Amino acid sequence: MKLKIAILAGDGIGPEVTNEAVNILKAVAEFGGHDFSFVPLLLGGVAITATGSPLPTATLDACLESDAVLLGAVGDKKFDALSPDKRPEAGLLQIRHALGGFANLRPSIAYPALSANSPLRPEVTEGANILFVRELLGGLYFGSPREWNKSTGEAWNTMRYTKAEVARVARVAFELASKRRKKVTSVDKANVLEVSQLWRATVTEVARDFPSVTLEHQLVDSMAMHLMNIPRNFDVVLTENLFGDILSDEASIITGSLGMLPSATIGGTVNLFEPVHGSAPDIAGTGKANPLGAILTAAMLLRHSANLEQDASAIEAAVRTVLADGHRTADIARGNAAAAVNASAQHLVSTTEMGKLVHQALAQSIDQRQSMHAV
Ligand code: IPM
Ligand code: MN
Repeated sequence: MKLKIAILAGDGIGPEVTNEAVNILKAVAEFGGHDFSFVPLLLGGVAITATGSPLPTATLDACLESDAVLLGAVGDKKFDALSPDKRPEAGLLQIRHALGGFANLRPSIAYPALSANSPLRPEVTEGANILFVRELLGGLYFGSPREWNKSTGEAWNTMRYTKAEVARVARVAFELASKRRKKVTSVDKANVLEVSQLWRATVTEVARDFPSVTLEHQLVDSMAMHLMNIPRNFDVVLTENLFGDILSDEASIITGSLGMLPSATIGGTVNLFEPVHGSAPDIAGTGKANPLGAILTAAMLLRHSANLEQDASAIEAAVRTVLADGHRTADIARGNAAAAVNASAQHLVSTTEMGKLVHQALAQSIDQRQSMHAV
């Protein structure tokens, strides 16, 4: 199969982790005889430095002509003084808007091998497997008016949703839930916000088309607590844009580290794939970045933009194997008392070493698959 993938490596650790993800995609192409091409493009701080704009027209045009977009991370302290519409993050919001994907899928899974590395007790995380469906094109991120009026000392943003915007993302959540454990938890603040009342009413209406799926509503504050208390109670969690941004970072603690979480944004012209973590400038260039979030993002790309489910699952299995063998980047090497007991069984590895280990595990599983077919 032929696939043209736009690569927006971005800032900080973005290029390091993206490089490992691309290596894995190249391996899948080689093993499967696919023709994947990779088009490197500028976005974020690196784009501001080179062109003055966080999203150059050349980048946007090339992304719109590609089959999928793979992003690293954006954000650079150098631009902290700029207003939100000029910062590296503005480039990310503009590309999200232009590509049109409104449903951002963020899985947060408890890996048995990492159970001692999460700050949560193993009996709390055990069995957790949550899929966040975060609305990505509305709410406070995009609503107008928005302004900081320095002369009056006021600033405002607008949380706005239309019924159609809520309904389309709710539909994605219910469709995904109907293929999983058949439960949607919709998150809002309907005891305070009108926009949440619209959200709740619309989600309830969409639920009628999915009688096999159970719907529950949670207020965002108590949801933040339940997530850490009984994470295994949740299946698909549907949220508006900002609530999903916050809760998905929180949910990374179930997995063990923000560096582990992938995401896929679907529903638009071209799907966009980005790890959940940021550019982490403090560890950029040190080899400490965890590439697994980016590698698992590559798996989502194969699943959602190429229909290569078997290869996507093989990458996810390879990640599990490497973790089960005790390999850890710094962010997942920390541990509680139980992990300390097993510390000798854990090996600290760098970004590139972790990438190579996943590559090896993947190659082995694909070899096995091919020899099974040959029999
Ligand atoms: C994320 C990030 C972005 C967001 C930032 C970098 C604009 O935090 O993808 O979660 O808030 O959506
Ligand atoms: Mn975020």
